[in-house]
Amino acid sequence: MRDADPRTVLGLHRSRHERRLLTRALDLGVTAIDTSTNYLGFHSHEVLARMAGDLLPKFRLSTKVGYFPAPDRAEHSLKPRRLYGAVEQAARVLGREPDVVFLHNPEHSLHEGPAHGREALAQACAALEEAASNGLCGAWGVASWNPSPLRDLIDATTPRPSVLMVRAGLLVGIRTLDAADTVAAAWGLDQGAVWGMSPFGGSTNAPVWDRIDPRVFLRDSNGLSRIQAAFRAAYELPKVGALAVGTDDPAHLGDLIGALSRQVDGRAIDNYRNLLRDRMPGQPA
Ligand SMILES: NC(=O)c1ccc[n+]([C@@H]2O[C@H](COP(=O)([O-])OP(=O)(O)OC[C@H]3O[C@@H](n4cnc5c(N)ncnc54)[C@H](OP(=O)(O)O)[C@@H]3O)[C@@H](O)[C@H]2O)c1
Repeated sequence: MRDADPRTVLGLHRSRHERRLLTRALDLGVTAIDTSTNYLGFHSHEVLARMAGDLLPKFRLSTKVGYFPAPDRAEHSLKPRRLYGAVEQAARVLGREPDVVFLHNPEHSLHEGPAHGREALAQACAALEEAASNGLCGAWGVASWNPSPLRDLIDATTPRPSVLMVRAGLLVGIRTLDAADTVAAAWGLDQGAVWGMSPFGGSTNAPVWDRIDPRVFLRDSNGLSRIQAAFRAAYELPKVGALAVGTDDPAHLGDLIGALSRQVDGRAIDNYRNLLRDRMPGQPA
């Protein structure tokens, strides 16, 4: 049994939701799990409560609201009453209040211009803030796959989340990296309050992982695989305090944890960000 390490969050987006994965995660010191109302075909909460209700109190549990089942296809919504109801339902179905509830990809519902967007985002955040202050969850956050549209919508009156979750890792473009930093700064969140997600872009089988060697981003990569190095480097792109990663294989989770103690080469990361920026359209060749 390893000591708990809050830097790794086991993400359940693609997970089969097997109990053995959760027990092994606890053994490895991974004591945070991240799910969402819509994971496992909108059954994640119910399945977690059924197969691991006794384990859930041992985890820091985060989930997301804002993506709702609908007759034709699921839909995003920022309607405050709907969001508040979804938090109530999450706590009821899980059998415990989540530690964090994220507003799920609010950028999907912000297409009607900046004035509307600013108000819609603020009201949605206020609904989650109210849910947290009424004890339906420990804290609330914002999870955004594409934070760029949020940049201009946050001002001093926008309720401030405790956690911002953004895409992280070597597959994230410079606009998204910069937008994540801008949004975190606009809300006054430090690195510890920013979580990364999806460090492999959803799959380690994608051809890109055979074509690059992320070990160049580490000071000491002796004995590490490319995947382990990509995971470690993802904590720096952008700088995050925790990283949500998906796996159904406890041995894979162990491999990832094994990379956490390695030092990142800050200069290599800075050079990489500069390289990405130089290649942005509109930059001199
Ligand atoms: N907008 C949002 O809110 C949002 C969107 C996406 C993701 N997320 C969060 O981020 C979490 C992770 O994202 P994700 O699952 O999409 O993508 P990911 O973590 O980038 O990739 C998951 C894939 O990586 C593989 N993998 C992990 N460790 C490995 C290892 N040591 N060796 C080889 N393969 C390895 C897994 O395969 P195996 O099962 O074979 O290990 C799995 O297929 C989600 O579960 C969720 O919590 C949030």
